[in-house]
Amino acid sequence: MADIKSKFLEVYSILKSELLNDSAFEFTDDSRQWVERMLDYNVPKGKLNRGLSVIDSYKLLKLGQELTDDEVFLACALGWCVEWLQAYFLVLDDIMDGSHTRRGQPCWFRLPNVGMIAANDGLILRNHIPRILKKHFKGKPYYADLLDLFNEVEFQTTHGQMIDLITTLVGEKELSKYSLPLHRRIVQYKTAYYSFYLPVACALLMFGENLDDHVNVKDVLIEMGVYFQVQDDYLDCFGDPEVIGKIGTDIEDFKCSWLVAKAIELCNDDQKKILYENYGKDNPACVAKVKELYEVLKLQDVYSEYEKSSYTRITNSIETHPRKEVQAVLKSFLAKIYKRQK
Ligand code: IPE
Ligand code: MN
Ligand code: MN
Repeated sequence: MADIKSKFLEVYSILKSELLNDSAFEFTDDSRQWVERMLDYNVPKGKLNRGLSVIDSYKLLKLGQELTDDEVFLACALGWCVEWLQAYFLVLDDIMDGSHTRRGQPCWFRLPNVGMIAANDGLILRNHIPRILKKHFKGKPYYADLLDLFNEVEFQTTHGQMIDLITTLVGEKELSKYSLPLHRRIVQYKTAYYSFYLPVACALLMFGENLDDHVNVKDVLIEMGVYFQVQDDYLDCFGDPEVIGKIGTDIEDFKCSWLVAKAIELCNDDQKKILYENYGKDNPACVAKVKELYEVLKLQDVYSEYEKSSYTRITNSIETHPRKEVQAVLKSFLAKIYKRQK
């Protein structure tokens, strides 16, 4: 495992150096240095779970058969495309959410001399993906499907981000419109497709499969993605910033988080009033009042129950799949996120 991670990081250096010498642009020392610093800051510093999942999934599909060096490289390159996509979304997400830290360091746009240049850096990260795919996959029978996949997943994610953002306008008018079905719709699009479906879909394409034959795999992965984002919402409020590497902003940002949707479901009229008066305010005293209410409503316990029942429900649906190797891919994913603290 440590071995595959070091291989993965090795491939990062290769891809980076190819991008920094892309002949479609005449790099100067300054521009090359900017992009290199931007990449090193934003791409490889996360948990790398999404990227490594591509390789894990591909291995499991091969039923333990040894991968060739070429296959390892290509699976790593696809894994990095997923990580590049994630970096692009995060750089822009942190601007939109007014966040302060990410992966244990200041958000990229918070750095002196970066600021709104980060918006264009986000676009550069996004543009790197088709450059990597062209260089390493053009000519493969699944090349067009790969491009379609990345395009479709990006479309879904940006639209998920859009509803995450415009829903706060609804919440500001009438907080009680926040509900679990609304929350589910947001997180399915903003998180589940790119974080869970995409890595497995990349591995399936590389393995020569037709994605239309794997709708049930997709459904399970979307369920896992929703569960993962509920965890993200929980950790935004109750996680340790030192461990998760970011400081939560959901309460200040008026987000339709799982916690607030659940709170609205559970609270009485007096408690609803507390929520109305304090939710969505960029004021530590108001944030503290919201958190206090969450404690009174015992949302931590409600969340533990949700974790357990999601785990059981998802495991059961995995076990209905006819192919054991596909079950193994899905189970390894679920095991990685169950009861996560970061
Ligand atoms: C992020 O959602 C989703 C994407 C980046 C596409 P959040 O805004 O809830 O995630 P964090 O908590 O900032 O990581
Ligand atoms: Mn965010
Ligand atoms: Mn966001």
